[in-house]
Formats: sequence, C-alpha cells, structure tokens
Amino acid sequence: MNTPWWKSSVVYQIYPRSFCDSNGDGIGDLRGITSKLDHLQALGVDVVWLSPVYRSPQDDNGYDISDYRDIAPEFGTLADFDEMLAAMHARGIRLVMDLVVNHSSDEHAWFQQARTSRDNPYHDHYIWCEPRDAAAPIGSPASLPNNWEAAFNGSVWEWNEPTGEYYLHMFSRKQPDLNWENPALRQEVYALMRFWLERGVDGFRMDVINMISKPWREDGSLPDAPVVRDGFLQPGFALTCNGPRLLEFLREMRHEVLDHHDTMTVGEAPMATTRQGREISDPIDGALNMLFQFEHMDLDSLPGDPRGKWALKPLDLRDLKRTMARWQDELHGCGWNSLYLGNHDQPRPVSRFGDDGEHRVRSAQMLGTWLHLHQGTPYVYQGEELGLGNVRFATIDDYQDIETRNMYRVATTERGEDPAEVMRAIHAKGRDNARTPMPWNDGPNAGFTTGTPWLKLNPSWPQVNAAQAVADAGSVFHYYRRLIALRKAHPIVIDGRHDLLLAEHPALYAYTRTLGAERWLVVCNFSADEQLFELPADIPAARWETVIANIEPAGGADLHALPMRPWEARVIRLLG
Ligand code: GLC
Ligand code: CA
Repeated sequence: MNTPWWKSSVVYQIYPRSFCDSNGDGIGDLRGITSKLDHLQALGVDVVWLSPVYRSPQDDNGYDISDYRDIAPEFGTLADFDEMLAAMHARGIRLVMDLVVNHSSDEHAWFQQARTSRDNPYHDHYIWCEPRDAAAPIGSPASLPNNWEAAFNGSVWEWNEPTGEYYLHMFSRKQPDLNWENPALRQEVYALMRFWLERGVDGFRMDVINMISKPWREDGSLPDAPVVRDGFLQPGFALTCNGPRLLEFLREMRHEVLDHHDTMTVGEAPMATTRQGREISDPIDGALNMLFQFEHMDLDSLPGDPRGKWALKPLDLRDLKRTMARWQDELHGCGWNSLYLGNHDQPRPVSRFGDDGEHRVRSAQMLGTWLHLHQGTPYVYQGEELGLGNVRFATIDDYQDIETRNMYRVATTERGEDPAEVMRAIHAKGRDNARTPMPWNDGPNAGFTTGTPWLKLNPSWPQVNAAQAVADAGSVFHYYRRLIALRKAHPIVIDGRHDLLLAEHPALYAYTRTLGAERWLVVCNFSADEQLFELPADIPAARWETVIANIEPAGGADLHALPMRPWEARVIRLLG
C-alpha cells in the first residue's frame, strides 16, 4: 500500500511571535525561525505548521489578516519567507501555512471597500443584516439581528453606519466573517491558496474551517441560538459550526485547488462529531486529510456552564478513553485522525494532564507516548518537546491574549465574579500559557530575544530550556526524538488498528495496536500513584519485549500483573 506522506509525518507547530526573535524587537520572526531549524531537524519532525505570518493589525495575533499575500513587517518580508521555506525544504521539512478564511481583518482592502456602500463590488464578500427592529436603538437587543455572542465577548453584530447595516463577526469586531455564499469570494480564496502553493508551500491548516457555511433561513436571517443562560446574548457556535453547505464548499476547494497539488490539509473544527470527521476526511468523497476535533479538549470543563471552557472540572480519565476510542474506531480504515494535546489556544499538556512539578519530565514523556501511539498524525506544539508547563502570572496586566483579557473584564465587572477565581481559571486554561516565548537556553531572556519579550517568559526557563534538554539524554526532547523515529521504523504505528483496554480503570490508560500478526500494547499511568496493570486473560503474552518506555523497565515482570510506577509509560511488543 502506498501511504501518503502526511500519514507517516509528525507535525511541529510554530507560533512565530514566540519562537525566536532575530532583531531584538521582542517579537519572534521568520529569520528567527530559519536560525532554529537545526532544533527541528534533530527532533526529527517532517512538517512545520506555521501560525499566521501574513500582514495583520494583530488584534488576535495574526488570525486577523489584512493582506493574504504579504508578510507582516514584524515577522519579516516575502524574501525572508522564501529563504525560510528553502531552508526547510533543504532539510526535508515541509511547510503548512495557516489559512484563515472564515474571516479577514476589518483592515483588509475588501472590507474597507465593502463597508462603504451596499453597491460596492466587495460588499457581498461579507455578511450583513438589517436591524431586526428599525425603530430600536442601535446595538439594543431589539435591534440586533440575532442573539449570538461573539467568541471574544459581546454581540457578533457590529453596526456599520455608511450602509445602515450590521456585519457579522464570530470572533472580535476586527474579524468580520467572510461570505462563502458568494462565488466570487470563494474564487478569491482559491486564488490566494494557489499563490502560496505556487510559492512552494505544502499545505494548509484551516482556521475554524467548519464555520464557513452559515445556517441561513429562506428570509435571509440567521436564527437565534437557544437560550441557555440569563441575559440576551447566547452562545451561537453550535449553529455556525458544520453548516448546511460546508462539505459542498470544501469539495469545491478540493477540486479547484487541492487536487492539483501534493498537499496536506487539516481543518480546525470545533464541535465536529465523528460522523463529520469521517465525511470530511474520506479520501474519495471528502475534502481534507484530517480535522482538529475538540471533544477531548472539552472534557475538563463543566458541560453546559455559561462560562464555557473557563468552568473548571477535573478530568475523568474514563471520559478521555470513551472519546478517544470513539474517534479511533470510527475513523479507522475510512478517514484519518489528527492527534494533539496542545496548541496555541490550549494550556500546556504537562500542566493540564500530567504533573508540571516533581514528575514533570516523566509525565510529559508519558503523555507523548500516549498520544503518538494512537492512529493518526501527531502534532507537537513548540515547547511541548521540552515538557514546558503553564504560567501563573500574578495580574491580568501580564496577559496579552484578547480572549483572556476580554473574559476577565466581563467576568469581573459585568458578572461580578471573584477576581481570584477568574485568575485561577486563566492559570488553568488561558491561551497565553502556550504563548510564552520559547526558552532556548539559560541566558538572558532564555535566548529568545536580546530585547524585551512581547509576553513574559515562563519563569522556569533557567531549568527548562532547549539547550538543557538537548544536553540531557533523559530529557523530554530525546524521548520525543525516539517516539518520532519509532513511527518511521514500524508501520504498525501508522496503520495498526486501535483497541481500548480497561475502559473503566480510573488511572491506567491501556490499548493495543494490531497490524496483521503484529500486536503492540501501550500502557500509561495517568497518576502519581503506583498502579497494577492486569492484561486481560484472553490476550496471549507469554513472550514480549519493550519497544520504548520512559523508565528502565523492571525486569522479569508478568504482563498479567505489572506494577506501573507514577506516570510510567510502556510500549510492548507481544510475541505470543
Ligand atoms: C482559531 C485559532 C485561534 C483564533 C480563532 C479566530 O481557533 O486557532 O487562535 O483566535 O480561530 O481566528
Ligand atoms: Ca523580531
């Protein structure tokens, strides 16, 4: 069988602002990335996913694009980009760009035109609605076209005086949603994709791509969201994700663009179900190679709580098993999974699911093992390979993220929540946990910049940094290197079927992978206590060998009663 390269690849995500600063302005940039490619090559990753570097007012750190065909000056120039891309390709590393086309920046030329008059040729590139009640004051509930709340708080509707309409923005008011119903807009998107593909990039990570088809009603309105809490505004995401024309639009994109290039595509898809995952990643009738689904990211929030992800709930490992096993089983042989625990929107996995104190290294290695041995394409987010943890900055002023800052303001002023509790939620879930500058060494500012970093460093940098990890054979870095190499040497890691074991065990996570006559067993201890692993009696295991483990295996053990030490992970080949 001919395995596509994106199935055997490991992807490394770079958040450019925080990766490496080459000119001392405190902001990471393209030349900084180029200077650090040896690190990626040593790790053994195949693909880089680069978060947005396009021209942008940076209202949402580049996820608000004002020119899709140019580089933001703080990140460099197109020449710097070409140089970086060539240096990656020279090392056998492919590059996947972030494609943010559910919305643009309000400073994009299209929107600047669109907002001037209803007759402007670009007007229909965006989404407009009349006030519901023309007599009601602008911005009042009676005037707003519906009750949806934007991701970064407030209504999704913003008034545009020159045309006497509201425009839709699912995120900040500086991120107006693009109108995918308009074929001309779709052609613009395909053209800009071709621009980057022709420049040599190898694919796209597509930002909130399952939100592009809105649930329009016959009368040209967008329905109200169900009322789940006090007040007028309600979460509207459930209505905009997986809309009626999503698959049609994505298939068109495939036929217009993707089929003509050798690409890798991954669509960010909040609220996606396994059925949608299967449909979209189906190699014949689908459109993209894989999705970033969110079910496993939602398990440590209280379901239905109006605070959303900020309503903390301890993870029940059995929920994680049910969710992951469902995605594994339902996509096996017909679609493809992406595997991730962290990215620029999520807290650090070692703090969230492991132990960022005493057992930091071992628990980070366990989480890596658990993730990479599932079926799918694994993603490593910068710093994850160092076992870098969350930050607990003292005041909201130390945070830069628009989501975090807006949430803090609304929670502490409008909702009267206890600021200490809100800070606790930010320490657990805030996006800046993942965005602190990459610690390269134990020198000033961890070698990230010679200037003042745009966001404070994680104070752990004197101990947790890349130079330390590379020098220490027992580090998370060297363990990840071995995990990544494993995938290259053993087809079972890519193609093996997954079967969950011990579904009800609260602390041990175990599964097998099977390919033909070969069978591997993965056992992970998600706790700081020793646990006894008991292999089900029907699995023959008289002879076995350890493939990889994060602690020296204790000799002579019986797999039907195997003591697992705190945060231990073991991958075992069963020999019959
Ligand atoms: C995606 C991005 C996130 C951004 C949002 C709006 O979820 O990953 O960082 O804020 O879309 O573009
Ligand atoms: Ca810089």
